[in-house]
Amino acid sequence: MNPPSGSNQPTEKLQFYGRRKGKPLKAGRLGLLDNLLPRLKLSTDQPIDPDVLFPGKSVRLEIGFGSGEHLAYMAQANPGVGFIGSEVFLNGVGSLLRYVAEMDLANVRIYDNDVRYLLPMLRSNSLERVSLLFPDPWPKSRHAKRRFVGPAMLNEMARLLKDGGEFRVASDHPVYVEWTLLHAPQHKDFRWEAKTPEDWRVRPADSTPTRYEEKALKAGRRPAFLTFTRIARTG
Ligand SMILES: C[S@@+](CC[C@H](N)C(=O)[O-])C[C@H]1O[C@@H](n2cnc3c(N)ncnc32)[C@H](O)[C@@H]1O
Repeated sequence: MNPPSGSNQPTEKLQFYGRRKGKPLKAGRLGLLDNLLPRLKLSTDQPIDPDVLFPGKSVRLEIGFGSGEHLAYMAQANPGVGFIGSEVFLNGVGSLLRYVAEMDLANVRIYDNDVRYLLPMLRSNSLERVSLLFPDPWPKSRHAKRRFVGPAMLNEMARLLKDGGEFRVASDHPVYVEWTLLHAPQHKDFRWEAKTPEDWRVRPADSTPTRYEEKALKAGRRPAFLTFTRIARTG
């Protein structure tokens, strides 16, 4: 099966440097992974059309949702929107499943693996927002290639987002903020519309803090919230 046009499904195994598992999961979470995950899980064996997954809804993607509190909040607050969450860390997937079950969320689908396998399978021009919240910063310059934001991923975000769609990046690490501002506003398909410090110092009003945002604030680090708008396609 060919991937959707304009994308390259990696054929080799991608190197992943983060954690896949943490503390042993309790029976309740294991039960959710066994019983609920199979119903919500996305497979990358076939191209994925978000409009088919969520008929009549606009669709957003959250990359590296961690424990899933932000994704669950957004899904509850926006029942007319479909949410795809991707997370490699099994304990995080278990945590999101608990929110989905307890909050009875019907608009969430999960990709429980490296998002780099998912992205090429999603139809072009199909998402209204992609959120990347507190990505692993990889601050050493010799690890810069591990950072999610970069020219190749910005091309992929531009392919996936609809005209006027948003790529939201939050980080409390100055190296990552600087890195993102070096790449994203210069991309031909994105515009950074911030005019005043409030436009990037304050979390977008429609959202809720993630666990990593709370950790950063407790440690006295002030995050940046960068929103890049997908410029309208011409022709
Ligand atoms: C620093 S944590 C932030 C979690 C959450 N967004 C928050 O703000 O609390 C980064 C998360 O991204 C996940 N992650 C890293 N690379 C990923 C990838 N390629 N695909 C999916 N998830 C990824 C990690 O497993 C981790 O849970």
